[in-house]
Amino acid sequence: MKRWFITGTDTEIGKTYVASLIIRQLVKQGYHVACMKPVASGCEHTNDGLRNDDALKLMAAANVVAPYEVVNPYAFEPAIAPHIAAEEAGQLIDIDRINALAQTIEADYLVIEGVGGWCVPIADGCLLAELARATADEVILVVGLRLGCINHALLTAAQIERDGILLKGWVANHVDPDMQMQSQNIETLQSLMPCPLLGIVPWHSSALNESGVTMQMNSECALLNMLDLR
Ligand SMILES: Nc1ncnc2c1ncn2[C@@H]1O[C@H](COP(=O)(O)OP(=O)(O)O)[C@@H](O)[C@H]1O
Ligand SMILES: [Mg+2]
Repeated sequence: MKRWFITGTDTEIGKTYVASLIIRQLVKQGYHVACMKPVASGCEHTNDGLRNDDALKLMAAANVVAPYEVVNPYAFEPAIAPHIAAEEAGQLIDIDRINALAQTIEADYLVIEGVGGWCVPIADGCLLAELARATADEVILVVGLRLGCINHALLTAAQIERDGILLKGWVANHVDPDMQMQSQNIETLQSLMPCPLLGIVPWHSSALNESGVTMQMNSECALLNMLDLR
């Protein structure tokens, strides 16, 4: 099973959106695809317990769906930094437990969404990188295209490499329709990023209808790099 960890240049830059597109692409290719959102803050109380919108969106895209408690074992109500949310809830985020749950999933691909950006603490002295290292083989960095994204993308990519985790590539996500010089920003990033551009996701005014949307893949590398891995 291939295990991809989806991180981003920030929160609200399209990790869930792009992860869902990647899952749908893989499903369309005939693969069995599972998902996890191991740590989520910003959850709603339901009759079934706390539920997170990101986890539900990923589950809706996947075709191998584990029980909710496996997909999202750490769900916190307030939309605050996860290590603070965990502390408030009197819980300790246990990477070994998350990894054990990940091992119960059987699929061709497991797509795991991180939380926030890359340098997010999940417990005392423990950053998200440790969770990524324990649960995934490769990281995909979603770059939300907006002013400031070049700096965030380069810093994030450098840190992922420093953390010794394979950075498979980055995805350019048009999250701000008003951003100026979008293609020039992509070109600059292409020349400076230490990993390939896997795909470009246009801004979709109908982002809510995600099932109808496909990713415009970089013709040179993306389809092969992302989907033909075995
Ligand atoms: N390419 C896109 N086109 C239009 N809207 C997008 C696009 N990517 C993300 N969005 C919207 O931006 C918001 C944040 O995206 P989301 O995937 O939830 O970010 P993250 O997971 O990084 O917090 C959501 O409302 C989502 O629908
Ligand atoms: Mg998300």
